Amino acid sequence: MEYRYSDGGLSKMSKDDMKRILVTGSTGQIGSELTVELRKRYGNDNVVAAGHRRKPSETLVSTGPYETIDVTKREEIERVVKKYDIDTIYHMAAVLSGVGEQKPLLCWDVNMNGLHNILEIAREHSLTRVFCPSSIAVFGPETPNENTPQDTILKPTTMYGVTKVAGELLGNYYVKRFGVDVRGIRYPGIISSETLPGGGTTDYAVEIFYAAIKEKKYTCFVKEDTVLPMMYMPDCIKGTIQLMEADFSKLKHHADFNLASMSFSAKELADEIKKHIPDFICDYKPDFRQEIADSWPRTIDDSAAREEWGWKPDYDLSRMVEDMIEKLTVKYEKGLI
Ligand code: SER
Repeated sequence: MEYRYSDGGLSKMSKDDMKRILVTGSTGQIGSELTVELRKRYGNDNVVAAGHRRKPSETLVSTGPYETIDVTKREEIERVVKKYDIDTIYHMAAVLSGVGEQKPLLCWDVNMNGLHNILEIAREHSLTRVFCPSSIAVFGPETPNENTPQDTILKPTTMYGVTKVAGELLGNYYVKRFGVDVRGIRYPGIISSETLPGGGTTDYAVEIFYAAIKEKKYTCFVKEDTVLPMMYMPDCIKGTIQLMEADFSKLKHHADFNLASMSFSAKELADEIKKHIPDFICDYKPDFRQEIADSWPRTIDDSAAREEWGWKPDYDLSRMVEDMIEKLTVKYEKGLI
């Protein structure tokens, strides 16, 4: 068998070689907004949205092609890649940390076999580029948890974290060994107003807004002093596309970039929301996800992303909260949430 090697042409590929894009997990929290943005940039018909379990939104099906793909079935991915002549994949389908602890085998199957299928298809069909998200879940209790370095101890204690470490290693291996251009970000908790996250540990930072607007009270499933790195969706989308459009020759890292924008405690978030909704009450009842949250960093050093591809976030806590409340209030008044 012959393989491409990373010095055999990857650095000659540019963003102009990304013409036909597939987004797996397009019905998920990040995938849904990423697909819409990619369609604006690359043309509606050039971005194929794929989902599996969740029902796709009206926007997703009306603005471009939509396909059902179970990423654990290689032939289903391959069928779509051939049908649309796909050259780039954003592989957003995954089982997150909370569900991963309840269903560890499913988490392994979807996250590992799904990723391996995607990488193999990218190798066999010589795709231009693949995006494979990683997570702050790659870190564990032994990792320094303040200003967590780019290259540090990766000994997670969740199945989700195990799959993300293995996924990063596999992605980097495919770059070096097979010359597949794989890129990835260790996402912090993502906060957004469009699609709810499903089954993650950082979900409280999204749920709290819906509860504050609809009921003016929320019971948070982590303690009030729990600090985690978070990011607002516009920054998440911006960073993702920016990394994918970056010059390959400038990258020293590939599938494992630390990325930061803000870190706050659950109480600091509740207090910021109270500035807009003064009668909002938040109480705290930690569940099994507290232990997961405690094993993750509080703050992240993202200097490699800043240096290698110019990462710079736009949102801090107060701007994010203001925008979230504005957007969700409009939805609430229209009866959409
Ligand atoms: N938001 C994710 C989770 O909580 C972290 O990658 O599982």
